[in-house]
Amino acid sequence: MKTVFRQDILDGKVAFITGGGSGICRGIAHAMMAHGARVAIVGRKEDRLRTAAQELTEATGRACLPCVADVRQPDQVEAAIDRTIAEFGALDIVVNGAAGNFLAPAAQLSYNAFKTVLEIDTIGTYNVTRAAFDRALRDRGGHVINISATLHYAATPMQVHASAAKAGIDAITRTLAVEWGPLGIQVNGIAPGPIDGTEGMSRLAPGEFRDRYLASIPLRRFGTVEDIAQCALWLVSGAASYVHGETVVVDGGAWLPGYGALLGG
Ligand code: HXC
Ligand code: NAP
Repeated sequence: MKTVFRQDILDGKVAFITGGGSGICRGIAHAMMAHGARVAIVGRKEDRLRTAAQELTEATGRACLPCVADVRQPDQVEAAIDRTIAEFGALDIVVNGAAGNFLAPAAQLSYNAFKTVLEIDTIGTYNVTRAAFDRALRDRGGHVINISATLHYAATPMQVHASAAKAGIDAITRTLAVEWGPLGIQVNGIAPGPIDGTEGMSRLAPGEFRDRYLASIPLRRFGTVEDIAQCALWLVSGAASYVHGETVVVDGGAWLPGYGALLGG
């Protein structure tokens, strides 16, 4: 993979990455492994995790542990973290990327649909971060990166569930940064814009909407998985050692046009 970072910056580090079996977080796993880390990737689909782990190890020469867990279930999360520490002897970096989303107007959303997205995204982020704190971060310090979005900065129709979920995640990022910074735990977030070739893009920017969306992005391109992976690397590289409690927007300026849309810009 192309990178501006020295290949050994994460030598000896261990990362626990939820959602690491696919899309953006698989890209983060790849980047961290390519820079020396050993990584556990976490999700519900065992087959996909096993295949991803094998491919990532072949690509990087580093160990990757596929861990089946539903982030909504604290006991499964705790078992996955225990397994990671037993396998690799440490846990230094947590990436909370597990999420669920779909387009649905609020008036057609069931109570359970709203609750499900908050449970996966927001409560899942808390469950994983808290279990990692108890088992490793409290004593050793480390990094937490919460994957957010820009949906809630203005207002995004058909996304009341995901907007509420990601706003909650940003609150977790800031609060834990204050509570855990003194322990040497750096807590940040990344808010990706539209990232091409991902499940999120195929669910949220279906074909007919794609061209209009592209034309509205100031950098005039969709993001890549590597764009997000490079930001994650930067956050844990030491180059960002005074960045704390921040959710870094990586979106080519996509959310900025705002009322510009009314002017056709
Ligand atoms: C309305 C829906 C729905 C849809 C499911 N539900 N899909 N409601 N529109 N398209 C409802 C169901 O009817 C059910 O409510 C409730 O949601 C829970 O559904 P389940 O299928 O039982 O839940 P579960 O098996 O836990 O699956 C969670 C899921 C699923 C979110 C629904 O799609 C999933 O696992 N997604 C993971 C992958 C994913 O979404 N990736 C994209 C992330 S992108 P009832 O009332 O019937 O019981 C992303 C981008 C953010 O987050 C920003 C981009 C710019
Ligand atoms: P994705 O490939 O669908 O990633 C979501 C991952 O979460 C999957 O690997 C999925 O694995 C896992 N997951 C879902 N529910 C889970 C649960 N209950 N327990 C454990 N794991 C679970 O989607 P993506 O588009 O790459 O999105 C990745 C992250 O970026 C998400 O946080 C998303 O909100 C954020 N984001 C994406 C975009 C975009 O353009 N794609 C934009 C903004 C933000 P299993 O199905 O195996 O469980």
